[in-house]
Amino acid sequence: MTPWAWGAMRACEGAQTSRPAGLARFLGQAHDAGAGWIDCADIYANGRSEALVGEALARDPGLRGRFQIIAKAGVVLPGPNGAGTAHYRNDAGHLRGQLEASLKRLKLDQVDLFLVHRPDYLMDAEDTAGALKAMISGGLTKAVGVSNFSVWQTDRLQRALGAPITANQLEVSVLATEALDDGRLDQALADKAQVFAWGPLAGGRLFDPDDAAARRLRALLARLAGGTDAEAVAGAALAWLAHHPSRPIPILGSCRIERLAAQVKAAASARITPEGWYAVLEAARGARVP
Ligand SMILES: NC(=O)c1ccc[n+]([C@@H]2O[C@H](COP(=O)([O-])OP(=O)(O)OC[C@H]3O[C@@H](n4cnc5c(N)ncnc54)[C@H](OP(=O)(O)O)[C@@H]3O)[C@@H](O)[C@H]2O)c1
Repeated sequence: MTPWAWGAMRACEGAQTSRPAGLARFLGQAHDAGAGWIDCADIYANGRSEALVGEALARDPGLRGRFQIIAKAGVVLPGPNGAGTAHYRNDAGHLRGQLEASLKRLKLDQVDLFLVHRPDYLMDAEDTAGALKAMISGGLTKAVGVSNFSVWQTDRLQRALGAPITANQLEVSVLATEALDDGRLDQALADKAQVFAWGPLAGGRLFDPDDAAARRLRALLARLAGGTDAEAVAGAALAWLAHHPSRPIPILGSCRIERLAAQVKAAASARITPEGWYAVLEAARGARVP
């Protein structure tokens, strides 16, 4: 399973990742374990996560070249103490301003991929597409894509762009299988877009002892992995994901390097047959395939 992406959403909370020196060490080890991407967003810890990643990259000049960096914008969180309403803004001025602020925090001139974080029901696709094209022509990002867009929303934006969208970040895991049926993975395959899977272990829900679907899945994944420990279960869940023909790149969110390394190692040795893949799908949905 190479390369995988590391998600910086929880970076400020992890004992190994919440300080620049620790994060620089963590990223070096993550790269040794096969990580090739760092997934950032302006809203993660209100910009503090990007600033932390920027500090870590600046500490070790060799690090930047080992990772491709993803930035995302378009979500506006409520103010302090929950004042105001969370909303989405995919207008050109907002996206451009947020990417410039992200680059400043990351201490970079350019990211490798900029994604529109969420569909904005008020989006003017031509305006958004204009901003995305200008980001590429201005050298702020090498490529652009979407996240959490439906097939129709992606289609609308790529028509305005006049070019296929080459990256799509969406939730998909053994506990979130909607993208298998709603056309998003098929669209990515047809358009040769790279899929990035956020929450590939369902944000830790896979390990919840009180969750009935997760319990069912753990038992089956352990059988497929030939081991009952959490790493073997996680590895089989990641191998299940990687088995889909769209070959999603998982964005792993753990902030413990030993855990990440064990999970990706277990994924590489898990063997998934077509029958086993469907057995996982049945266990996920609690229903037989027709
Ligand atoms: N585009 C979007 O809208 C969107 C939305 C959400 C997330 N994302 C991106 O996707 C990344 C990953 O998402 P995610 O964090 O949900 O990924 P994940 O890998 O599914 O979940 C990581 C969480 O699971 C926990 N975990 C992992 N292994 C465990 C185990 N064996 N036992 C108990 N807990 C375990 C981790 O805790 P420890 O840290 O303690 O190991 C962490 O809290 C984020 O960082 C972000 O970059 C994008």
